[in-house]
Amino acid sequence: MGVSSKLAFCATIASAAAIQIPFLSVPSQSRVEATNETKPLVNSSEIQDLISGDRLLARAKKLFEIAKLGEEEYNHPTRVIGSAGHLGTLSYIYEQILQLGDYYSISNQSFPAVSGNVFESRLVIGNQVPKSAAPMGLTPATKDKEPVHGKLVLVENEGCQSTDFPEEVAGSVAFIKRGTCPFGTKSENAGRAGAIAAIVYNYEKDPVQGTLGTPSPYHVASFGLSGEEAEPIIKRLKQGKYVDAIAYIDAEVKSILTVNIIAQTTEGDTENVVMLGAHSDSVAEGPGINDDGSGSLSLLEVATQLTKYSVNNAVRFAWWAGEEEGLLGSDYYVYALPEEENKKIRLFMDYDMMGSPNFAYQIYNATNALNPEGSEELRDLYIAWYEEQGLNYTFIPFDGRSDYDGFIRNGIPGGGIATGAEGIKTKKEQEQFGGKAGDWYDPCYHQLCDDVGNVNMTAWVVNTKLIAHSVATYARSFKGFPKRALLTGTNEYESQTKYHGPILFF
Ligand SMILES: *[C@@H]1O[C@H](CO)[C@@H](O)[C@H](O)[C@H]1NC(C)=O
Ligand SMILES: *[C@@H]1O[C@H](CO)[C@@H](O)[C@H](O)[C@H]1NC(C)=O
Ligand SMILES: *[C@@H]1O[C@H](CO)[C@@H](O)[C@H](O)[C@H]1NC(C)=O
Ligand SMILES: *[C@@H]1O[C@H](CO)[C@@H](O)[C@H](O)[C@H]1NC(C)=O
Ligand SMILES: *[C@@H]1O[C@H](CO)[C@@H](O)[C@H](O)[C@H]1NC(C)=O
Ligand SMILES: *[C@@H]1O[C@H](CO)[C@@H](O)[C@H](O)[C@H]1NC(C)=O
Ligand SMILES: [Zn+2]
Repeated sequence: MGVSSKLAFCATIASAAAIQIPFLSVPSQSRVEATNETKPLVNSSEIQDLISGDRLLARAKKLFEIAKLGEEEYNHPTRVIGSAGHLGTLSYIYEQILQLGDYYSISNQSFPAVSGNVFESRLVIGNQVPKSAAPMGLTPATKDKEPVHGKLVLVENEGCQSTDFPEEVAGSVAFIKRGTCPFGTKSENAGRAGAIAAIVYNYEKDPVQGTLGTPSPYHVASFGLSGEEAEPIIKRLKQGKYVDAIAYIDAEVKSILTVNIIAQTTEGDTENVVMLGAHSDSVAEGPGINDDGSGSLSLLEVATQLTKYSVNNAVRFAWWAGEEEGLLGSDYYVYALPEEENKKIRLFMDYDMMGSPNFAYQIYNATNALNPEGSEELRDLYIAWYEEQGLNYTFIPFDGRSDYDGFIRNGIPGGGIATGAEGIKTKKEQEQFGGKAGDWYDPCYHQLCDDVGNVNMTAWVVNTKLIAHSVATYARSFKGFPKRALLTGTNEYESQTKYHGPILFF
């Protein structure tokens, strides 16, 4: 990945903004009895039959047109939070649900986020332009948005303590090893020591693409660098040789409000809510049609077809914002839920990336041993469905990379399916699913080419039918599904997670 691409990263900021909690004031009693006698109870096989590739594809084309609204500011289609492409996406989702009349009640939950854009960046070390150099998310610009020049100074240990920074860092470029503390702490320590820029190099040979997280006035312009490219530089610095660097970043960090859209059936038992979600935003680099246009549109289509039926349990659809910046929207939603609302959510189903071009049918391996009771029953529903269709599936780690994270951490059973991001398809998976071993599941993951052509329609239709099945099953009944318990202490899940969304903070 080049060093001059636009990046956007965010972090939650503390705010006194009014917290709106959807459905808090809904009297649940009257809703339980409210059924429209003229509609049949939702039936899984019937609603699956209503899922059509043509309708999904038409929606994907529409979403790409919406992403083009981002061109003016970003020079390419994008639906990143804060962009016209994302605002257009929100309007589209909202309008589509609104058109379904009083079948749903819709609410917007707005929340604060910090949005960063790197417009341009360059790093030269000695007389080399390192290929792996990447500006950190939420980095400030260099002074006056101009190139700065200085000596490269090796920082001791991992730069997590102010004492790790020698005096000569002042007016120089700090060269800091990754590890132990967040990138943001290293950059802040460098800034306090008077550095004009900071470079965090990896302890592994790979590049480092991370974020500084919540902004600090002491952050300095910061880059990540691969361990491979850092190695010869460290050697020269350790030999006491002089190495200089030119750093340049033109960037801005701004606070914005963005929105989760929540739609709930006006019918159905609100004490036993079926909840599912997808994220409405993309990364800055591209239009995000597979990630997660696919899941967002699957939800819209299932929500649309569901209106032909009545439901026993209330169904709540969520379109999260700020997933790409670290699960901001889903976190905000779950952490703001009062206990009595938390208890009503029987399960949360995450649908992120439903049609990767080089797909595998992936099921999150969410077991009851590590996760709230019920997660495994949901996992087994997905297994049974793929088996019934005669399709292969694989398990993938349930490790915090998408919006289920906040739910699990707050005691709500969860799970989901996916089709793969930057992981590499194995030989065995090629036999199981077709496609190409050795390539990424989604070769356009987080890139400009994540457009309408970047979705395998076969996989997308199959998974949208499975989403419809999951909704139909639980909207009819939670018979045999574990009762909700409230979280006591922490669950095992916490010790197993490695991510918080796609974002690397350490
Ligand atoms: C109930 O069904 C009738 C006939 O299909 C329809 O006109 C009406 O809008 C429905 N009401 C609700 C609340 O869905
Ligand atoms: C759902 O509909 C199918 C096809 O119309 C029917 O065969 C099946 O019995 C229905 N399932 C239930 C549980 O009513
Ligand atoms: C909710 O957000 C959508 C999308 O931004 C907007 O179109 C709609 O007007 C908002 N509705 C309310 C009641 O604020
Ligand atoms: C699924 O998770 C359980 C732990 O909860 C683990 O024992 C099992 O090996 C995992 N399966 C796969 C295929 O990863
Ligand atoms: C499932 O995987 C096996 C290989 O493990 C393969 O032979 C079979 O064709 C696959 N089934 C489908 C429906 O792709
Ligand atoms: C989608 O995947 C299926 C199964 O691997 C394959 O046969 C088909 O050609 C793919 N479609 C596209 C457009 O790549
Ligand atoms: Zn995603």
